[in-house]
Amino acid sequence: MIRTDDYIRQIFLKPLGAQVEARGWVKTRRDSKGIHFIQLNDGSSFQDLQVVIESGAVPEAALAAATTGACVCVSGELIASPGSGQSVELKARGLEVYGPADPATYPLQKKGHTMEFLREIAHLRVRSNTFGAVFRVRNALCFAIHKFFQERGFVYVNTPLITGSDAEGAGAMFRVTTLDLTKPANDAADFFGRPTFLAVSGQLEAEIFALAFTNVYTFGPTFRAENSNTPRHLAEFWMIEPEMAFCDLDGNRQLAEEFLKYIIAWVLDHCRADLEFFNKRIDNTVLATLEHVASSAFEHVTYTEAVRVLEKSGRNWEFPVHWGADLQSEHERFLTEEVFKKPVIVTDYPAEIKAFYMRLNEDGKTVRAMDVLAPRIGEIIGGSQREERHDVLLEKIRAKGLHETDYKWYLDLRKYGSAPHAGFGLGLERMMMYLTGMKNIRDVIPFPRTPGSAEF
Ligand code: 4AD
Ligand code: MG
Repeated sequence: MIRTDDYIRQIFLKPLGAQVEARGWVKTRRDSKGIHFIQLNDGSSFQDLQVVIESGAVPEAALAAATTGACVCVSGELIASPGSGQSVELKARGLEVYGPADPATYPLQKKGHTMEFLREIAHLRVRSNTFGAVFRVRNALCFAIHKFFQERGFVYVNTPLITGSDAEGAGAMFRVTTLDLTKPANDAADFFGRPTFLAVSGQLEAEIFALAFTNVYTFGPTFRAENSNTPRHLAEFWMIEPEMAFCDLDGNRQLAEEFLKYIIAWVLDHCRADLEFFNKRIDNTVLATLEHVASSAFEHVTYTEAVRVLEKSGRNWEFPVHWGADLQSEHERFLTEEVFKKPVIVTDYPAEIKAFYMRLNEDGKTVRAMDVLAPRIGEIIGGSQREERHDVLLEKIRAKGLHETDYKWYLDLRKYGSAPHAGFGLGLERMMMYLTGMKNIRDVIPFPRTPGSAEF
């Protein structure tokens, strides 16, 4: 029988004197004369349930096996706790050990593990305080994302993971093949009869749906083979991509701001204990920042204005700033952390440094692009108004050296019932870093894939 009514989170809400059964994993255990304390956690709340076992109350063998890491079931009575740190505790009457954990080898001991070490035990780190909090927040965040779009009538669309098109026109794609790699390549003999790749984005297919359902969104994994070994890049990450017909860059910007504020407010409301933990142990600015962001307007500057601010800063940049150069993380962080001290939306980037599908401005040099930059993280959202004019798009595809045959259906959308439209992509893990203060993107996804590493 599946049990959904006696999570530890729910046990905390029961009245004193209630007879309960609690199941979970022993986080820590402490023994003193005649009395034993177990901190029990089942993932449902940040707070552990303190179990108190008086000597003789439960079988000796079970008590001996209920060490850190073991999975147990404790039955007993909920009583007021005399100790500090919790208001109730479970006074044990019965103890059953489902699965012991050898204390001599169980790697997740009390504290002091580095994040790097915990990454090596990704099958066990989820039972720690930090990763319990991370993945509860991630769950709440995903729910809030769907809720936001569903409440606004957006249609959820699943775009393909195996694709023939390079959606960003940037070429950093993983090849999907069943070809024998020891033989000379023969694309026609490959599984799909053509070269295929893991999708870098679902945007182009989302556009198909926006031009039939008006407002849509994707939410799925995306893959990038760029060799970026940084704390902000993954080879496999999750992206949320809304796409809206009859929407321009201003509408896109407004939706992005409303969206970010909504999901921040949701997590503040629903994950308080987890966020308080991050604020105490990981980054003591997290709570204040989130509360501030949820309630104040984002800054908006054009790329040209941003470059001017950076040039005037008098800083010695590692990557020199000039009109036409892409903004680097150091520039993005300077703008958000030192100049504006809040999220900043930068729009109208040079066409040269942005993807082929962005709408060309009247000046012929810039495109209707938008990046949302966040303090500490840098780029958290990338988006644009799309080029809806067939001939302008075709020209762009050619100018970027892309093959127009690869984009035939995409061009068709501009031939048959084209409409102004816009959209953006939020990196789920970048958002997670922002919410939690976690410093490395590898620690906000269950099983990180990065250059040279794909364990689990
Ligand atoms: O700016 P990007 O490349 O935009 C797109 O893919 C568009 N197709 C989105 C759209 O308009 N529908 O990526 C969007 C976001 C980035 O702002 C960043 O948050 C995240 O995806 N991102 C990554 N996150 C982790 N690891 C990586 N390697 C990432 N690359 C992008
Ligand atoms: Mg981008």
